[in-house]
Amino acid sequence: MPDVPEPPVDDPLYRDPALARFYDAANRWSADFDLCRKLTDGATSILDLGCGTGELTAELGRRARVTGVDPAAAMLDIARKRRGGEAPTWVEADARTVRLHETFDWVLLTGHVFQVFLTREDQLAALRTIAAHLNPTGRFIFDTRNPLLRGWEGRTRQNTLQRIDHPALGRIETWNEAAYDEATGILTYENGFRVLATGETSSGKARIRYTSHEDLCALLTEAGLEVERWLGDWDERPLHPDTREIIPIGRRG
Ligand SMILES: C[S@@+](CC[C@H](N)C(=O)[O-])C[C@H]1O[C@@H](n2cnc3c(N)ncnc32)[C@H](O)[C@@H]1O
Repeated sequence: MPDVPEPPVDDPLYRDPALARFYDAANRWSADFDLCRKLTDGATSILDLGCGTGELTAELGRRARVTGVDPAAAMLDIARKRRGGEAPTWVEADARTVRLHETFDWVLLTGHVFQVFLTREDQLAALRTIAAHLNPTGRFIFDTRNPLLRGWEGRTRQNTLQRIDHPALGRIETWNEAAYDEATGILTYENGFRVLATGETSSGKARIRYTSHEDLCALLTEAGLEVERWLGDWDERPLHPDTREIIPIGRRG
């Protein structure tokens, strides 16, 4: 059983069931999940930290012992009810503090979970959790957006407005707006949703942190982790100053 966690990150986008129900419609299976499925082929145990609604977790649970950890009960409720949701072990806990007292062949953090940690201390705590759950031949992978690309620029409601289909609510409108603080590397963003059939509108604010490759190298070393490959995107292209993502793959140092 996990130890009692600290209070989790208080993020309405994931904590509020009215907002969590939009997550899967706005975030579909994509290259990150494909690569995780490929890399973990043959693994017998996998830890998915910040598993959210568990789409990847449930898929991996078809062929390995899988544990999904997330502090947001609303996200885990969706995960448990999805097809294949009965196979993984779901743990409501915080990646900064959780200790499951077992180790895994792979530890994954997809969907830029690493960016929810807003201080160096919290980032280090999450990386130490990865190290604590890797077996001697185990590997980790996670993604964080490359700050050199300044992807937050131009993110206004007008520029980001999209119409997508929600399986239960029908056609919905989504948008996001963001403001970046150069001093801290913290982006404050707001995701909004409108159900076209009813006009019901909801939105939630959240914060994420951008980290340079250089700072991440220092954090990983301090946490006792060693990187074997740096990718620049989930299609496996190598890391470069112009790539969208910073993706380390490694093991305990
Ligand atoms: C963008 S979602 C990613 C979910 C999933 N990994 C995916 O790829 O779809 C971010 C997730 O991080 C979770 N999260 C927030 N704070 C966390 C923490 N302290 N420890 C672990 N997960 C956290 C949120 O609840 C949310 O489910």
